[in-house]
Amino acid sequence: MNIYNFIKKKYIRLQGSRNILKLNFFIEKSFKDKKLGNIGFDFSQKPKRQSIVQEIINLKGYKSYLEIGTFHDELYQAVKCEAKVGVDPVSGGTIRKTSDSFFKENKDKFDCIFIDGLHYYSQVKKDIENSLKILNPGGIIMIHDCLPNNHFEQAVPRCQITWNGDVWKALVECRTQENIDTYTCYADFGIGVIFNRKNRDILKIQEKSFFKLKFEDFFYNHKKYMNIIEFEELIKII
Ligand SMILES: C[S@@+](CC[C@H](N)C(=O)[O-])C[C@H]1O[C@@H](n2cnc3c(N)ncnc32)[C@H](O)[C@@H]1O
Repeated sequence: MNIYNFIKKKYIRLQGSRNILKLNFFIEKSFKDKKLGNIGFDFSQKPKRQSIVQEIINLKGYKSYLEIGTFHDELYQAVKCEAKVGVDPVSGGTIRKTSDSFFKENKDKFDCIFIDGLHYYSQVKKDIENSLKILNPGGIIMIHDCLPNNHFEQAVPRCQITWNGDVWKALVECRTQENIDTYTCYADFGIGVIFNRKNRDILKIQEKSFFKLKFEDFFYNHKKYMNIIEFEELIKII
């Protein structure tokens, strides 16, 4: 392992340390939270990512599956598909690398890609761009954790255990692009869905620096920004 990957691995682990989380939470609460409270997303009666991914694979007859960020293989093990690759620098899957180094060396193409690695806007944006380059025609990209319920769940750096990160900003950016068609399935903390086809409902917004979007923007505009749909609707348009 080179020094860069070693430091990155330590940093990822350190981010989960409780004292760092407590300090980050204090900073967010004191200086950044606008006290908007919870949006009220309730995923308890919605399908889980395991059944969503499997149903889509079965329905479309997909033969190859890539998961970025596998952790304890809760999803990776559940997925049944002819060819499977799981990438994580720390645990689970089949390839012990960051997504960046995986994409640099990978020569394979995939029908179904599930992105669930580092939950930072800039990393998710890269993971989406790299995934689009290796997606087979008619394939699908899914992105986990797109619907944070409150400021703290989406704060970067991470400040609590339940954490979506600012993945949502990468989805908003995708929604503004002409050549990809982006939705968010209302299930399992929000599952972003990207098809490599013309955008059917392009999002027009003023803010051009997506990184600078605030939770406040998401709080008031999440339906429009994220193109939220139920799983039953998603199945009809895939
Ligand atoms: C939320 S967990 C994944 C959960 C898993 N997909 C599931 O559904 O059960 C996030 C994982 O991303 C991994 N990760 C962090 N940075 C990464 C990176 N740069 N590339 C790939 N994976 C990364 C972490 O090690 C962690 O295991």
